[in-house]
Amino acid sequence: LSSVEVDVSSIQQGQSITVMWRGKPVAVRYRSDKEMQEAKAVALGDLKDPIARNANLKDDAPATDQNRTVPGKEAWLVMIEVCTHLGCIPLGQQGAYGGWFCPCHGSQYDTAGRIRQGPAPENMAIPPFQFINEKTVRIG
Ligand code: FES
Repeated sequence: LSSVEVDVSSIQQGQSITVMWRGKPVAVRYRSDKEMQEAKAVALGDLKDPIARNANLKDDAPATDQNRTVPGKEAWLVMIEVCTHLGCIPLGQQGAYGGWFCPCHGSQYDTAGRIRQGPAPENMAIPPFQFINEKTVRIG
């Protein structure tokens, strides 16, 4: 399947699910206000990878918290859950930044899925996606 539709109506704020898209795990995380505030508070200059890596935006869009999401749905992070170091699957809601922790070599990602510490070179990728109604996300 080139695209998948995900019913997100049962996901509570602060929770996350993982779905498969093109053979890859994709996190659908409904972020808490605190998680968003933490991500927004980070200066771009403090990011290891300053590029948004969001397939829904221009290739050179900066990695602000807003640019890691789509307009009007900033609480929702939809992200390919594959570490950009050597492709392990990081663990969600863990690590020093409360985002993801990769157990393979210790990369730490923040609550916007941006690499903050460790060997991974890039932020985790945001796939093409859109909300087709209030409770459904289409990925791909
Ligand atoms: Fe994630 Fe190496 S594969 S830190």
